[in-house]
Amino acid sequence: MAEDRRVIYVTSALPYANGDLHIGHLLEQIQTDIWVRYQRLRGELCLYGCADDGHGSPMMLKAEQLGISPEALIADMKLAHERDSRGFLISHDVYHTTHSEENRTRAEEIFKRLSDAGYIYTKRVEQLFDPEKKMFLADRFLKGECPRCGAEDQYGDNCEKCGATYEATELVNPRSTLSGAVPELRSSTHYFFDLPKLQDFLELWTSSGTLQPEVANKIREWLEVGLHPWDISRDAPYFGFKIPGTEDKYFYVWLDAPIGYMAALEHLVAGGNAPVTFEQIWNADSSAEVHHFIGKDIVNFHTLFWPAMLHAAGYRTPTKVHTHGFLTVDGTKMSKTRGTFINARTYLDHLDPEYLRYYFAAKLSPTTDDIDLSLADFVARVNADLVGKVVNIASRCAGFIHKGHDGVLAAKCADPELWQTFVAGAERIGPLFEAGEFNKAVREIMALADRANQYIDAHKPWALAKEPGREADVQAVCSLGLNLFAVLMVYLKPILPKMAEQAEAFLGVEPLSWADSGRWLGAQRIEPFQALKQRVDPKAVAAMIEAGKASEAAPQPAAAEARPTKLEDDAIISIDDFTRVDLRVARVISAQHVDGADKLLELSLDVGALGKRTVFSGIRSAYAPEDLDGRLVVLVANLAPRKMRFGVSEGMVLAAGEGKDIFLIAPEPDAEPGMPVR
Ligand code: MSP
Ligand code: ZN
Repeated sequence: MAEDRRVIYVTSALPYANGDLHIGHLLEQIQTDIWVRYQRLRGELCLYGCADDGHGSPMMLKAEQLGISPEALIADMKLAHERDSRGFLISHDVYHTTHSEENRTRAEEIFKRLSDAGYIYTKRVEQLFDPEKKMFLADRFLKGECPRCGAEDQYGDNCEKCGATYEATELVNPRSTLSGAVPELRSSTHYFFDLPKLQDFLELWTSSGTLQPEVANKIREWLEVGLHPWDISRDAPYFGFKIPGTEDKYFYVWLDAPIGYMAALEHLVAGGNAPVTFEQIWNADSSAEVHHFIGKDIVNFHTLFWPAMLHAAGYRTPTKVHTHGFLTVDGTKMSKTRGTFINARTYLDHLDPEYLRYYFAAKLSPTTDDIDLSLADFVARVNADLVGKVVNIASRCAGFIHKGHDGVLAAKCADPELWQTFVAGAERIGPLFEAGEFNKAVREIMALADRANQYIDAHKPWALAKEPGREADVQAVCSLGLNLFAVLMVYLKPILPKMAEQAEAFLGVEPLSWADSGRWLGAQRIEPFQALKQRVDPKAVAAMIEAGKASEAAPQPAAAEARPTKLEDDAIISIDDFTRVDLRVARVISAQHVDGADKLLELSLDVGALGKRTVFSGIRSAYAPEDLDGRLVVLVANLAPRKMRFGVSEGMVLAAGEGKDIFLIAPEPDAEPGMPVR
């Protein structure tokens, strides 16, 4: 069946399932979503798939630390990620997980195809092994002295002091960061993907327009040095898919992660809601397009390993890999202590998602340059452009149409030349969206918004309205203003889908498509004007930054990483939710330091009728154990017990502040242990 429209499958990189989404992840998802929405607006068949990346030792260790199964951890995380993406109006057609049957089957199939075609072999490998945790250690779980300069406390792959790179086995006095144990050298059989065999293919593929020029250049350097075989197995214990025919070998997370792109589409198709088949997208002879959006840290996986795997397994390769740079906030890496490590949820608690969508769009280009979110610039830009320019056009015109003309627009255009300028904008702005030049598209759109405002300024409907007999002129000027506004909303729709929807309701039109940028509205009735966007309140930005700091300084360090097992759709809780929290007065019987945890104190608490409780609390920076004996505190008594490395924590004590300025919340001295707090 021949399609007369493009068939496009688009993905964002699959977020790891062991942490919350932050606005860096959202930079990528927003970039992808704008591109996807642009394609759909053009009438192309564009499907957007994503998933959580659920495998690997970090998931296993994190789940262990929380005392839950990895399955439970990644299921919770997936809900949270989906909710946060939705909050930013990301229009995934499917959000799956790599820990799925579709992905297992597909990964096994691809592995078998690679094996059958002679691309897989095994080899004994010597690696450091933690005798206490009984597992082989990845580089990041090893520390020791640098073999070159002797600096202490360096990771297993490179030295931060002298910049040397080395093998983990070269570390002097190595230690496992998981258990502190001295690792042993052990050997084990690993599976390898014979990447060097695909060198010729990769040289061709990476230089055939699939990559941005700067990325292609970087890859060329790597290819000139020559490729190494890729180690694609990990020994048990590991959270992932077992390699068929083995008892204790798993696919390395990066093997099945990109296959998750395929599995997500397969899941979508199986759900019956996609007008495509799996084969139509992924077969070697597919005429559909596949576009991956990724960050520059994972370029090698997407431009070498992944296309090589696809090609060798007889599948089509990606049409394009779009690589972006990293997000910085106020010029520096996001930082928890500065409050600039902004979780997606924290942002949404304080600010409108479309502000950030607009700001990112105004900065995104098809380069791998880092992108800075300057908070002052963010406020100024959104207010000046969205509110000051775009919304302003509609708010200046709508009232006059309602007042003298019963809400009905003029049938004829008062300035065809100006109108044509706006309509012709599509020819410049469309290709800019297609090419990922969103910053330039925004510049063009705002230049048009300036033209519209200049037109209104020049014709002064507010003055005309006072002159008798000029009613028709007022209507003509304001109608043109509103038509120009409608064209701008078409161009902005990929970036601001919610605002476009509100504008459609206000203008009384069907959902706008790209072709509507050339459509004069005619003598139709509009709805009363309601402010389409409020100004950004700098106080809300400040509150968000404070909240970011506070989440870092939660009284219990482990609590900041733990997440509730049930995730509500909304951050607002009801009074019922609140009264479910059982707060009690408790008396400290004794307090002590915890070996290996420099932030924690172990508290033994008397909770009256509720008995005794042990709680690990992150207050060591502000309190010495001996200061606490006999003190009253407030305990969250019905928190699920949490298994930590040092023991089980049976609740949480309330405190304010952070660092040296932590203040325990204390009842008056007459309160009795066990009393409910309300
Ligand atoms: N799970 C892998 C991707 C597997 S894709 C088959 C992974 N996950 S991640 O959660 O660490 O990152 C997901 C995406 O977010 C990556 O493309 C990454 O580059 C991007 N970003 C993570 N932090 C970012 C910033 N601070 N700024 C911009 N993008 C960032 O990698
Ligand atoms: Zn060194």
